[in-house]
Amino acid sequence: MTTRQKRPFVPITEIEHAAFCKPEDELPSKSLAEEIAINVRWQKIPTEYLHYSAEQLDAKIAEARRKLGARVTILGHHYQREEIIKYADFQGDSFLLSQEAASRPDAEFIVFCGVHFMAETASILSGQHQKVILPNITAGCSMADMAPMEDVEDAWDDLIEVLDGYGGVTPVTYMNSIAGIKALCGKNGGAVCTSSNATRVLEWAFEQNDRVLFLPDQHLGRNTALKLGISLDQMVVWNPFKSLGGNTEDQLRSAKMILWQGHCSVHTRFTVKQIESARERIPGVKVLVHPECPMETVDAADINGSTETIRALINDSPSGSAWAVGTEISLVNRLALNNPDKTVVCLDPVSCPCSTMYRIHPAYLLWVLEGLVEGEVINEISVTDEVRSDSMVALERMLALK
Ligand code: 13P
Ligand code: SF4
Repeated sequence: MTTRQKRPFVPITEIEHAAFCKPEDELPSKSLAEEIAINVRWQKIPTEYLHYSAEQLDAKIAEARRKLGARVTILGHHYQREEIIKYADFQGDSFLLSQEAASRPDAEFIVFCGVHFMAETASILSGQHQKVILPNITAGCSMADMAPMEDVEDAWDDLIEVLDGYGGVTPVTYMNSIAGIKALCGKNGGAVCTSSNATRVLEWAFEQNDRVLFLPDQHLGRNTALKLGISLDQMVVWNPFKSLGGNTEDQLRSAKMILWQGHCSVHTRFTVKQIESARERIPGVKVLVHPECPMETVDAADINGSTETIRALINDSPSGSAWAVGTEISLVNRLALNNPDKTVVCLDPVSCPCSTMYRIHPAYLLWVLEGLVEGEVINEISVTDEVRSDSMVALERMLALK
């Protein structure tokens, strides 16, 4: 066995999340110099970028884009702050952004305003002639960081050994994971999923095998498996800090769903109590949460879905409707802003943006765009050829499913 008991480790991205919780009126962007005062990791940037005002940034970004023309395309995830999303040529959830990255072969550069795993996926799906750029290299994802490659490889080796002769296991990884894990899935008959197609991908996975290893979000895995009729007693959690993930060989052999012990620090803040309070305060409110929320929260909500589902449901709902939303605050605030005839509130009374998404400040966007104007590619995201071709297999399995 390769897994063994070890000291639990908390990713730095997880520790840093709380530093970004702030009162609602402090959410709008300040100069980078003021934001950088928050004591977390920020990528070093030339000092002139620290002091630009919002107006200066706007004018300079427009000028750089004019010079670059069609050579550059900007993609933005729904969780990006307002001051960034306004520059996006396309905005979407992880799934739509991955499709978009694959369908813009004419752009020489894809500037990805999102987090590292999304830019990495874009670099795998875009053409070899294209370069993908992440404006701030510290924009990671705490959930992805909860599944380091070495721990996943150890777990995989053990599972192969324990389940040999017992039907094996199909690996499925959530998009929110490093490319090496996508490659492991590609090499071993598995696939990638996003929150918008997790049900379909899991159905597919159970057509391949009676047992699935789901990484790295235990909540999305559990919530989706429950939808497919798999009961809690058919699921085990793999704790990477314990030998055999904290399970016996028998438990692993009788499990249908092995859930990696990872979570999203933003979505685990949403609780049943907050839902009860919203229902008390807002008559007729509909509660809509992301499936990264814990099972109890998803059960208590009216609907759950990906960021794109959340956006579309609220935008398309009748005037006068009321929504309490359990997802990242930048998206909730945008939906409230764009739907003034509806009530749209965040379930959580404290505003805690995803701290890594939030690190894409307009000054970083300007820095990488001006770099391109000068012929310098800053923060290119790429993977090795081997990882690219293996992870492509897992991504294509997902993209082929309807
Ligand atoms: P979506 O796929 O719903 O955009 O979610 C991505 C994400 O990181 C949610 O935390
Ligand atoms: Fe990762 Fe959660 Fe941020 Fe999404 S919201 S990027 S899962 S930390």
